[in-house]
Parts: sequence; C-alpha cells; structure tokens
Amino acid sequence: MSRMKTREDSPALRPESVRKDFPILARTAPLAYLDNAATTHKPWPVLDAMTEYYCTSNSNVGRGYYRLSMESTACLDQARLVVGSAIGARSPHEVVFTSGTTDAMNLLADTLGRQRVSHGDRIVVTGMEHNSNLLPWRRLCERTGAQLMVVPVNAAGRVELSDFEAAMGPDVRVAAVSHVSNVLGTVNPIRELAVAAHRHGTPLVVDGAQAVPHWPVDVADLGADFYCFSGHKAYGPMGVGVLYGRHELLSTLPPYQVGGGTVKGVTFTAPVDYVPAPERLEAGTPNVAGAVGLAAALTYLQDLGWDAVRRHDEHLVRGLVDAVGDLDRVHVIGDPAGQPSGIVSLVVEGIHPYDVGGHLDRLGIAVRCGVHCASTFLDDLGLVGTVRVSFAVYNTESEVDRLCHALATVRPGDWTRDHPTTRFL
Ligand SMILES: Cc1ncc(COP(=O)(O)O)c(C=O)c1O
Repeated sequence: MSRMKTREDSPALRPESVRKDFPILARTAPLAYLDNAATTHKPWPVLDAMTEYYCTSNSNVGRGYYRLSMESTACLDQARLVVGSAIGARSPHEVVFTSGTTDAMNLLADTLGRQRVSHGDRIVVTGMEHNSNLLPWRRLCERTGAQLMVVPVNAAGRVELSDFEAAMGPDVRVAAVSHVSNVLGTVNPIRELAVAAHRHGTPLVVDGAQAVPHWPVDVADLGADFYCFSGHKAYGPMGVGVLYGRHELLSTLPPYQVGGGTVKGVTFTAPVDYVPAPERLEAGTPNVAGAVGLAAALTYLQDLGWDAVRRHDEHLVRGLVDAVGDLDRVHVIGDPAGQPSGIVSLVVEGIHPYDVGGHLDRLGIAVRCGVHCASTFLDDLGLVGTVRVSFAVYNTESEVDRLCHALATVRPGDWTRDHPTTRFL
C-alpha cells in the first residue's frame, strides 16, 4: 500500500475557510478552542460519512448472508484499507480497530505481554509517557515480575538515543515510547529508536496519539513494530482507534478479548480455532461507523495537504513561542518550536495553572491545565502542572493574539493562594 503523500506544492492552509468545515465552531464562537490535544472537532466530511453509513448501510458485519450486511462489511473493509494506506501499512490486515490508544495499549500489554514477557525480563518506557502508555506496562510488570525501565527525558523534552540505547539489552522484551509528547509537544526520534530496539531483537511500540493529527505518519518508514492512535484526536469520532502491527508480529499475537467474530469454530472442549489477525483481535461487533468516520478524517487531512497542515502548525507554534517571549513571567516548557507538533506548554510564574485556566476560560479561551495524565513527567519537570495550548487546522493567528493578551492579565487566584501544590487532572 502506498502511504499518504505530502503535497509539496500545496497552497497555505486558510484557517478562516477551514473553519466552515466544522459546524461546532459556528455554535461555540467566539470560543477560542485550544485544547485539541484532548480532542478535536469534527468536520462535515466525517459527520456526513458516518450519517451516510447509518442511513444507507447499517447492519452487523461479517455475519449476515444478505446484501445489506455485505455492504456494511464492505464499508469496514474499505475503512481499514484507507486507514492502513494513510499510515503506510503494507496491508489493511495490519490494522486492528480498537476503541482508542488506551485500548490499543492494553491490548498489546496483554497479548504481547503474554507472548514475550516473564519474570526477570525488562520493559522499557520513557519518562514522558501518558498514563495510557505507562500503566498497562506497569501492570504487566506487576503481574509477571518483569522490571520497568524508564528512559530519562532531556532538558529540551525529548528522549536521547544514547539514553535509550543505554537502557536496552537482550532481556528487554518490549520498548514503548511516545512519538510526540502530549505534555510538551516535543518529538522523539522514532526511526533511530526503532533501529536501536531492533538491534536487541526488541519490538518497538509507539504511542502516536499526538502525532497522527500533525504528521504524515509512515509506520514502515519509522520502523515501528506497533503504532497506536485515537480517531478523536485526528478529527475523527470518539470510540475508535487503531493498533497497527507489523504483519510478522501482529499475526502471531494471541487473542485479547474473545468472543464473536474471533473464531472459525468452537466446541465445548476442543482447542479453539481462532481466525487470523486483525479480526482475531477485534472481538464483538466493531464500531463500523467509527471506522468509516476515521477513514473520512484521515482523507480530510490528506485533502488539506500535509505540507499545508505542517506549515500551519509551525506558524502557530512559533508565533505563540515568540509572543510569549515578550510576556513577563510566562515561560514555555521544553522546546516545542524545534520541531513543532501543535502543542505548547506554558507556566506563569507564581500562578497555579488552574488559576490561569480559569482566567482564560472567563475570556473565552479553552486550554488544558494540570498534569495531562502524565503526573510522572510533571514530577520529573518539578512542576505542579502546565497550561497546555494545542492547535488544530481551524485555529487562527488572532486566537493566538487573544491568548497572549489574556496571559498578560492573569493574576493569582484561589488555587495559588489556598492550594498551591494541589493537582488532580
Ligand atoms: C500521548 C497520548 N497517549 C494516549 C492517550 C490516550 O488516548 P485515548 O484517551 O483516546 O485512548 C492520549 C490522550 O490524551 C495521549 O495524548
């Protein structure tokens, strides 16, 4: 399968016209929605594709010998083809539909874990992981007696190849790393990490939740053995995500949840005959409309043109980082402008992030404040939390200006006075 192409000659993205594709923006205006790393809004092509599916093809898949069911099955097959092609999979059979990144990571920790990890082995993660790419591996260690190794993050907010290499060894059975940090927006050198992991025969699992909305991800080029992401962060619907697995590895994974759709034949006693992946790993009725919506979302991004999307991200990220440089007491954490992904984390000296978030909310600006489901990383950074600004294709320069004006007027509030070290999000 050929991967999604970048259009080098694509015209600049015009967010004002892109905004017309997103019906919610008409309703929520003048809210500046800058929390896209949490979830993105959905464009008409996604909403239309899902409505069309329900209006014309809805029925269960792979189990009805009638035309409507076959049409529905064809919709799912087509979505798998589009999604696989969008991320550079060699075959649609390398694409497992999950309910999201969290589900994909739990699936892997269970199946790859049962297959590869036992007492005394090591599992490598990094210090920047979201709980969804930390807790499944931690629990696997607790269950098996394996040891969790944590690769440190450097001052710029990235994993250094040399630190990763130092953690590797023949007893490392799995390495799991973020492609893009959901806290700092910094990008890890996945290609190099994959080479280092493979030198030890270790499969590399990549959490791509924050990469897929911003980069034309090519799993084969990256050398990732497994790559996970969520539809809803990439303009697709909630409740659908992807586990890509390199065929040689995915095809050997044992079943995760078992049930309808996973078996060729069952008796009460004989060994169960499971179907091959990906269906073996998709027990129960799949989220067909979700898969259809996700395929439409990735096609929408492709149609905008990856080059234009990349330049838009760079423009907003660098514009914000530059503007914040002129603000007293506001600091950018890490180096989000080095290789902009769409996320910038800020702190305002002497003011609790929740007070900053409350102030921005009162001025019609939505950002995420706190630890971003990565308290271990915030501990390492020595911060109670950050104010995370995350961009999408519909955000504008004027929203960045509004944000900077608002940041210039924030004052300490109840959180700063009464709960300066409290955090829970
Ligand atoms: C890097 C990263 N990994 C995993 C997740 C979990 O994604 P989901 O909640 O869609 O499963 C997130 C969500 O914020 C994330 O940013």
